Amino acid sequence: MSENIDSVLNVSTAVSPAEEFQKNALISSEEQYQAMYKKSIEQPEEFWGEIAENSHWFKKWDTVRDWSNRPFAKWFVGGKTNIAYNCLDRQIAEGKGDKVAIYWEGEPVGDRKSYTYTELTAEVCKMANVLKSQGVQKGDRVAIYLPMIPELVFTMLACARLGAVHSIIFAGFSATAVADRVNDCKAKVVVTSDGAFRRGKVLDLKSIVDAGLESTNCVTSMVVVKRTGNEVAWKEGRDHWLHDLNDVSSECEAEQMDSEDPLFILYTSGSTGKPKGVLHSTGGYMVGTQLTTKYVFDLKDEDIYWCTADIGWITGHSYIGYGPLSNGATQVMFEGAPNYPAENRFWEIIEHYKVSIFYTAPTAIRAFEKWGEEHIDKHDISSLRLLGSVGEPISPETWNWYYSKIGSGKCPIVDTWWQTETGAIMITPLPGIQALKPGSATRPFFGIDVGIVDEKGNNVPNNKGGLLVIKQPWPSMVRTIYGDDARFKETYWERFEKQGWYLAGDGAMRDDDGCHWILGRIDDVINVSGHRLSTMEVESALISHELVKEVAVVGYKHEIKGQGIAAFVTLPADTEMNDEVRKALKMHVRTDIGAIAQPDKIYLAEGLPKTRSGKIMRRLLRQIADGEEITGDVTTLEDPTVLDKLKQQNG
Ligand code: WT7
Repeated sequence: MSENIDSVLNVSTAVSPAEEFQKNALISSEEQYQAMYKKSIEQPEEFWGEIAENSHWFKKWDTVRDWSNRPFAKWFVGGKTNIAYNCLDRQIAEGKGDKVAIYWEGEPVGDRKSYTYTELTAEVCKMANVLKSQGVQKGDRVAIYLPMIPELVFTMLACARLGAVHSIIFAGFSATAVADRVNDCKAKVVVTSDGAFRRGKVLDLKSIVDAGLESTNCVTSMVVVKRTGNEVAWKEGRDHWLHDLNDVSSECEAEQMDSEDPLFILYTSGSTGKPKGVLHSTGGYMVGTQLTTKYVFDLKDEDIYWCTADIGWITGHSYIGYGPLSNGATQVMFEGAPNYPAENRFWEIIEHYKVSIFYTAPTAIRAFEKWGEEHIDKHDISSLRLLGSVGEPISPETWNWYYSKIGSGKCPIVDTWWQTETGAIMITPLPGIQALKPGSATRPFFGIDVGIVDEKGNNVPNNKGGLLVIKQPWPSMVRTIYGDDARFKETYWERFEKQGWYLAGDGAMRDDDGCHWILGRIDDVINVSGHRLSTMEVESALISHELVKEVAVVGYKHEIKGQGIAAFVTLPADTEMNDEVRKALKMHVRTDIGAIAQPDKIYLAEGLPKTRSGKIMRRLLRQIADGEEITGDVTTLEDPTVLDKLKQQNG
């Protein structure tokens, strides 16, 4: 960690907000931030109670926050609301019926649709009636496995409207991953499509779901959106085309949900082989995503907002789905890849829709930089006024390139730190006030009480790394791990049980200006292209291959992905490591988890570097995968010669 600290502190110089931006910002003075932040920490109930008044409630809450049964928080207790109602009906009631909610851009060039708030409401209601026709009721789980098409938004909001719990599965996950998730939450209905377009090719999505459902028995209906027109297998009785069910009313009353009723489950990797079903509830998540979207992105009525994430991840849930819509924003939603049909696609989209707020991930920014500035120079992207970054630490170099090339030196960058579990942005600059620091997520958002502590819970001094903890509950926090309260307690709360602090799993440091620097994970979780993956998950996929006797997986520095995946495997004595074996092992992981988990490097380990007590020294494996000199103590190794054999390979 200390190495990281020195490097970030050396290269960063603070960048002051442009006068023009500051003048018009929703939060435009340091005093305003300080006053609001102070109130949010010292009088959280008053603060959040006032904020929640901005949402629509069928019945007002009795208590703002209940932290008596920690770590199980409750917010806006006794309140009745509906988040889809807030994203739709309330917007229409406030006069935004004819405002465009979504400009949708398909992957095939020219494939465009747009939906006003009135039109979106009708689509969501129809989808809700379709789900109802398939027996979906309040509390049921609905799994959604769709590409980035409008029906994905319709379905998530339809679930919320009915009070059904959605579990969106990123459409890059494999059949096995689909089965695990569907089984864990016992989904009743699955919504998918025939296929998805990916860089001009058609991926057969339905066949993946079909294969996954072979090992489940909870799903009674599959609703299939026709997107690509490829042939699909059909199971009579279970499978239904959406267009055959769609002759339903475009009205559907929103269910009055209890503030603490579950809204969705989203699976994310933990440090074990089994993904965790992060459960979010209604009222607090609604208030948190709405407020952060407004202030972090300085969102104005006339903005055209674009978040490039996939809705299959939390960024898409909070900052394509609920946050922008509950603010009545106009946004762009894009189905495709940034380099299809060519590397200028994003800039063409920004020019076409006059995007003013652009929220993306460092891995994408690194790719843009590598593809070359000529793709950007072809387009007029001067509509941009604010840039965002999320998913992994952004290096000061990448930050500076983003700032000067994409933002022309005039757009503030909000580097937003948060997690699937936090539901909403936690540490971030507010773009109209303080100086930005390239590489730092800067300061906590309202209501977020961040601590940086040592193993015992003592505050660490400024400019020293420590564990990132959150000392008070916040509205959009995870409520539990679905079906596993014990794992919820153990993962996030056990370490600082006495204090009642949330352990984020990241290392961090605070500098003398009160700015926060995220130093990366403290557990065996790696971050590949802004997505979280547990090394154990990849290991358990590999060990299930008949050739693999033993395995260790580590992350290493990767130019574009941030972290790449390196696997060290032991094969039977008579088996050689060659390209064919490598390919077979990679395919195996793809089928078990999905393409994102496929190892970039595979080493043959005749032996793994272990201590005499049998513990694998992953630090050494990381150094090998990084191509670095082996440093530090190796005297505890049981057999030091294994290192030399590994160092001779390229993986
Ligand atoms: C982990 C959470 C939050 C949405 C996308 C990822 C890392 C996230 C930043 C940032 C440094 C970041 C952390 C965190 N992370 N944003 N701005 N700077 N690191 O969600 O899959 O739940 O992963 O991503 O390590 O713990 P996730």
